[in-house]
Amino acid sequence: MYNRTRRLRASQGIRRLVQETKLSVDDLIYPLFIEEGTQIETEIPSMPGIKRYSLDTISKELDEVVELNIPAVLLFGIPSKKDDEGTETWNDQGIMQQAIRFIKKNYPDLYVITDVCFCEYTSHGHCGIIHDNDVDNDATLMNIAKQVVSHAKAGVDMVAPSGMMDGTIQVIREALDNTGFVNLPVMAYSVKYASAFYGPFRDAADSAPTFGDRRTYQMDPANRDEGMREATFDDQEGADILMVKPALSYLDIIRDLKNGFDRPIACYNVSGEYAMIKAAAEKGWIDGERVMMESLLSMKRAGADIIITYFAKEVARILSNNTN
Ligand code: PBG
Repeated sequence: MYNRTRRLRASQGIRRLVQETKLSVDDLIYPLFIEEGTQIETEIPSMPGIKRYSLDTISKELDEVVELNIPAVLLFGIPSKKDDEGTETWNDQGIMQQAIRFIKKNYPDLYVITDVCFCEYTSHGHCGIIHDNDVDNDATLMNIAKQVVSHAKAGVDMVAPSGMMDGTIQVIREALDNTGFVNLPVMAYSVKYASAFYGPFRDAADSAPTFGDRRTYQMDPANRDEGMREATFDDQEGADILMVKPALSYLDIIRDLKNGFDRPIACYNVSGEYAMIKAAAEKGWIDGERVMMESLLSMKRAGADIIITYFAKEVARILSNNTN
């Protein structure tokens, strides 16, 4: 006698009972691009539905996020002036700092996370200080410390360093602890690959490197064991949440981290993953909504507790309709 697995698929009722993984609005973080200036509301051609806003135009977007009950936003700042070191990142009056204050004042219950990096702020587009045509790890760390303390003073709820410099988490933890921010958590971009899936983001955030690429600091997509090593160091240095990025092509890594660490695991459903689904759906080649839900579900099934996604508003809308 063979086993009849179809018995538990026979109707909606039983399928609901045995469903193992569920997406919830509680899992979602919505990224926002905030540009210095006024009256900015710029569409990003490769990311339909996503825009860059200035602080005077962003309220309707934030109203929607709150209305949809999305718990958190991840901020990317686009400054009006760049330089070699990205000094605007630690300017207490910089765009990120203004954005943190604006959101915490007007939307106090919305959880605000900042992407901590330099590539949107440096004239060369790399994630730190350049010496001899490469990013100088330890010189960059000193600036990361200044950047996070400035975000903390502006009132951010959590910082998320994305530059892949060695020692980042330790330096951030020490800087925050020494300035009285012992309770401010760090979400580490622990396992971040040098991925072609970031293409649309670099248009959105104006952060493409002007020379070379990021392969001396971001990981080789071929490497899995190294992902565990990266996550182990961040775990030991005191990261509160470990992240894998991108998500869809790295579900194995998400599962490794889920099995290997007793910390919440996040993944970043990146710009290229978003763009692919949007483009194919626009052509009528796939059912965009179903592919979106299936992709995000697969990230949860792989072990992600938290998903950073440009789809957050759409997903939240669908989930809220389902329960009504
Ligand atoms: C770096 C950063 C990048 C993304 C988030 N933070 C780009 C990069 O490393 O080049 C990519 C996000 C996406 O593609 O959606 N600050």
